[in-house]
Amino acid sequence: MRQPQMDDRQFDRIAALAYRESGIRLVREKKLMVQSRLRHRLRELNLDAFAAYADHVISENGAQERRFMISALTTNVSHFFREAQHFDILSDRLLPRFRACIATGQRIRIWSAGCSNGQEPYSIAMHLLAQDPSLVDGDFRILGTDIDPQVIAHARRGSYSAQHLRGIPPEILDKFTIGTDHDDGSRTMTDELKRIVSFHELNLFSQWPMQFPFDAIFCRNVVIYFDQATQERLWPRFNAALTPEGLFFLGHSERILEPADDGFQSVGPTAYCKPAHAHSTS
Ligand SMILES: C[S@@+](CC[C@H](N)C(=O)[O-])C[C@H]1O[C@@H](n2cnc3c(N)ncnc32)[C@H](O)[C@@H]1O
Repeated sequence: MRQPQMDDRQFDRIAALAYRESGIRLVREKKLMVQSRLRHRLRELNLDAFAAYADHVISENGAQERRFMISALTTNVSHFFREAQHFDILSDRLLPRFRACIATGQRIRIWSAGCSNGQEPYSIAMHLLAQDPSLVDGDFRILGTDIDPQVIAHARRGSYSAQHLRGIPPEILDKFTIGTDHDDGSRTMTDELKRIVSFHELNLFSQWPMQFPFDAIFCRNVVIYFDQATQERLWPRFNAALTPEGLFFLGHSERILEPADDGFQSVGPTAYCKPAHAHSTS
């Protein structure tokens, strides 16, 4: 049977919707990718044409399908200990302060915004706990959020295949993960880690209902899918969500063009700090 084809007009309607809903910019060159990623949605809904799919997903009744559509269109590639130099910047600059917080009962909060399947927030937790196990005794929490409900469900389960686990150094792997019943090398994050790291579905362009401020925010390899103007709407919001001296990390091919204008100071490759004297820019 012939597979449904997406024409330019249907692509433009779907791309405009994806941009409005999530900030993700899809250019015409991506049409074949979008077509192939959405075909299973048509099958799921028993639709045989993209015109009918576009009508449905844009309609008032399409709210649930919009979530599935965004989930199908997002790129969720991630891995453990990605761009590990950021974890060193985090511990070099903030671990002494975290120790003082533990001693005085103050809260420590880290946010992984666009956390995909959870490898990033679990890596942050493992990295910090390996250096200072006493963090578990304090009010230390890491929040992972993502627009895609499927990756959030995976992150909450905290189980990963042997291939996923490859980036974790062996001594850390033994300490913070446990083998599953499957004989395939897959492992699950320990309950201790799961108590520290929690996950919620969140679109970065909606309200942020969490309690602020954060000591560090990781938003890596997420804004690359947004255009410049959309990225720039986020910088003041992230800045306002940080503590003074809080750290903000982007992915290796992302950057804030004028950090000082947005209240940031560069402290390393795609790593920024909110200076102690900074006032909220929002
Ligand atoms: C390539 S992954 C990056 C994962 C992780 N931060 C890393 O660097 O390995 C990008 C993630 O951003 C999420 N994302 C894209 N647009 C988003 C939005 N508007 N709000 C929240 N998350 C979004 C995607 O669902 C995807 O899981």
